[in-house]
Parts: sequence; C-alpha cells; structure tokens
Amino acid sequence: MLAFSVDSGLTVPQSAFFIGAEPHPALKDWNNLTGWQPLKPLADSWERAGFLREDNFPDRKWPLVMVLPGKSRDETLGWFSAARDRLEPRGVLVVSMANTAGSGRFEKELAKATGKIVSIQKHKCRIFHATEDGTWNEEIFNEWRSLGEQREVSGFTVQAGLFSCDHIDPGSQLLADHLPAHLHGHIADLGAGWGFLSDAVLKRCPKLLRLDLFEADARAMACAKKNLAGDDHEIGYHWHDITNGLPGVYDAIIMNPPFHTGQATNVDLGRAFLKSATNSLRRGGKLLLVANRQLPYEAVLETSGLAWRKITEDRVYKIIFAEKR
Ligand SMILES: C[S@@+](CC[C@H](N)C(=O)[O-])C[C@H]1O[C@@H](n2cnc3c(N)ncnc32)[C@H](O)[C@@H]1O
Repeated sequence: MLAFSVDSGLTVPQSAFFIGAEPHPALKDWNNLTGWQPLKPLADSWERAGFLREDNFPDRKWPLVMVLPGKSRDETLGWFSAARDRLEPRGVLVVSMANTAGSGRFEKELAKATGKIVSIQKHKCRIFHATEDGTWNEEIFNEWRSLGEQREVSGFTVQAGLFSCDHIDPGSQLLADHLPAHLHGHIADLGAGWGFLSDAVLKRCPKLLRLDLFEADARAMACAKKNLAGDDHEIGYHWHDITNGLPGVYDAIIMNPPFHTGQATNVDLGRAFLKSATNSLRRGGKLLLVANRQLPYEAVLETSGLAWRKITEDRVYKIIFAEKR
C-alpha cells in the first residue's frame, strides 16, 4: 500500500474522496473520507477500517480527490477523469504511485491536462498533485473518460483493467473448447471475470440447472450481467472473495484461477481457489480448470483427495479435470 504523504504543502480538508481506496494507519484520524474500491478483498478491509464506501462513483464533489493507480494505463487515466469530475472548483487532485507502476509517465500525462503539477518522491513512490484553476484541458479528460468506460470486445462488454479486456484469453478459450457437455445441475464459475466461461457453460451444457458466478471485481460482475443478460437460466452473481470459501455446494465448478495480485505472481491465490472449490463440491462433483502449464496445482488436488487427469495441453496451458471422491 502506498501511503499518501501530507508533507507536500497540501492543506488537508475535512472531507475527501479516494479512488482505489486502501486503508492505511496514516488515514485513521480522517473521519470524513469516502472510498471507492471495486476489488472485494480491499473494499472489505477499507470498511473494516471504519471508512465510508460507495459502490459506484457518486454524483458529488469534494475539495480533495486522491487516486491510487489501477492495473492498466487506460484504467488509471479513466480514474484521473473520474477524479476530475468529482472535484470542487479550486479542488486538489492527488495521485500516489510506485515508481514501478510508471509514476513518472503518469505524472507527465496528468501535467498535459492540468499544466502545473507539484511532485515529490519518497520510498520509491511519487506523489503528485494539481489544483483546479479553470484552465485544465477538458478535451484530454474527455478522452481519458472514454478509455475508462465499458467497451465491446468480440461481442462481449468489457472494461479497462479487467482480465482479458482486449482479447479473449487463449487459456479460457482452450477450456471453453474442452467443456464437457455432461456438466449438469448447479455449476459455479470461480473468478468469473466478465463472463466468458459462464457464457460457454450456458451455451454448451444443456443439463445446467443454475449457474453461480463468483468474482472479486465489481466492474467485471457488471460486465458479466450485461454479457449473460439474454439467457433464460437461473443465474446468481456474487461479488465475493473466493479465498473466504463459497456459500453453496456444487455439482460442477469451472475456473481459470488468477495467479497475480496486482503486478506480483501469487500462486497461493490459485491454491486458495482450488481449496474453496474442493470444499464446495458435492461427492462425485466435477472440477474443470485451466492453468499455465508450470503452475503446480496438481499437488493441491492430490492433497485434497480429488482424482484428476489432464485432458489436454498446448505449449502454454493445461486443462485439468478432477472429481471429488
Ligand atoms: C484469470 S481471470 C479469469 C476470468 C474469466 N473466468 C475468464 O476466463 O476470462 C481470474 C479472475 O479471478 C478474479 N479474482 C481474483 N482474486 C479473486 C478473489 N479473491 N475472489 C474472487 N475473484 C477473484 C479476477 O478479478 C479475475 O477476473
């Protein structure tokens, strides 16, 4: 987590809005701080720390709006626009970024739109701010706003910052191509993203009774709802942290588990997905997953007592089918 520094000459106002909100001890005395955070685990920790949270960007303005970056350029620039839209006249837009996230590049981008920027560097991070003075280049903010909006890829609604937001993921495609038509009953899609695998299940598994999508990113869930809107099956959408387990029991589970947290590789996250899936499968329940070939998920299946086999692989991905005994 990047701490916002207040030693940059800024007067800290009573209230502020925080885009990409994450709790930090330095914020603890700030009562009137409203956060927006689309990722469930971080939204939960923000609320646990006692701060206010909004599900969507509110239709309000603040004297100070703070931004922590998203994962992609378009997403972060979209957030700069969202911040600009929520600033009162003479308000201050503050961005804090790790150098490894491209802080120098983003500072230059923001300077193009705002002119004067004040910047300090500390702890391998850059914190930069600009004060709205009526001279900002609104055309640039308009362009960034559209980068952050939902868009179409291969007939699906997606949004910058989501997994596979500019192409269908080849691993997910491989799994969709090998989806057994006999999967039936109550099926769950773990880490459902904008709904590519769910769409494949709905189209290819005629004995499906109900499909539950579990996803940590609220924006991905919103896209999935649009992408699956034309289907008549019973579908549940759950903004949910899968590492906390699942609320239901399933006949089959499909997934392309994540193995990144932010920029860092995190195989434990994929392992936690497997554990939650194993705990929520009925006896005889089926698990179908795709993973990069080098990821060591077979060991987790072994220790969880699932019978598994690899049903196909290519140069990059493997598809594993497992059954709970
Ligand atoms: C590799 S992507 C797969 C997306 C989609 N199923 C597909 O195949 O295109 C993994 C997904 O897991 C989600 N995710 C990451 N951590 C999560 C967590 N703790 N709980 C729920 N979903 C999570 C990510 O937001 C991402 O959408």
